[in-house]
Amino acid sequence: MGLDTMKPDLPGQLETGSELLDLEHRQVLQVIAACIEMSRKDATGTDLIARLNELHQSLASHFETEEAIMPGVDAQHADRHKKQHSYVIASLRMHISALASGSGPDPHAAYEILVSLYYWYVVHIKTLDKELVSLVKAGVAA
Ligand SMILES: [Fe+2]
Ligand SMILES: [Fe+2]
Repeated sequence: MGLDTMKPDLPGQLETGSELLDLEHRQVLQVIAACIEMSRKDATGTDLIARLNELHQSLASHFETEEAIMPGVDAQHADRHKKQHSYVIASLRMHISALASGSGPDPHAAYEILVSLYYWYVVHIKTLDKELVSLVKAGVAA
């Protein structure tokens, strides 16, 4: 599927100005939405754990894409941005192991956590990711 056919899925306010980041955001948001849907039905199932591992992978690889374009941008931005990425990856990993070991606090926790992750991500895109693209563009133009 080409970039253009997938474009309508991403609301305009989430566009960052980078086609690559927008494409990856669309994919990550779709995986989070699929996990939310699945967690509503079976919060502790092995299928959900497999989906969450897929989410972990796509988030980690997307964060690598962003971090690869950070060298050269404002160091304070890069530091703050990377910290948010690593905090989210660490907490997702913790929730996946808790679910996998059956020591999760409550079967509905996965649903609540995923909804929070979705909203966190929307805010992250609108703030730090957009700022990153502006900083990269300003650096190129300078
Ligand atoms: Fe980011
Ligand atoms: Fe992002």
